[in-house]
Amino acid sequence: MMNVKRIKIKLFFLCFIFIYSISVNAATRGEKLYLQNCMVCHADDGSGAMPGVLDLDENRAWSMIDDIKLLTRLKQGIQKPDASISMPAKGGNPNLTDKDLKEIIHYMRQSFLQ
Ligand code: HEC
Repeated sequence: MMNVKRIKIKLFFLCFIFIYSISVNAATRGEKLYLQNCMVCHADDGSGAMPGVLDLDENRAWSMIDDIKLLTRLKQGIQKPDASISMPAKGGNPNLTDKDLKEIIHYMRQSFLQ
């Protein structure tokens, strides 16, 4: 009886560590991809690295957009007729997959707007 209880406790902790490590890995991968592909214009903290790039940390509009719409927007890029600089599709890296972009979105949601 005692053994079964111990095994259950061990299993519970193993599951917890497993799920925790998955979420940590996803976050760090998203961060790496953000720094490689987006930082050049948006800065490491999202505040914008050059004039004409909105502050993702101050401007909350993007965070209200759901994941699917935001993914589509990042894939297409953002061209506003009156803007001095536009956002290239996938930040200019055609090799980024949907999974990559989702991990970047996940990272931005967790790290910005604090
Ligand atoms: C060449 C510069 C450049 C790069 C690289 C770039 N962006 Fe942007 N991004 C912009 C500009 C400029 C805007 C603002 C467009 C506007 O609203 O006029 C923008 C807007 C955004 C927005 C706000 C979208 C909205 O609808 O309000 C998000 C989110 C964003 N970028 C994420 C990213 C991510 C993620 C990457 C990397 C995959 C990236 N950007 C790479 C220039 C860039």
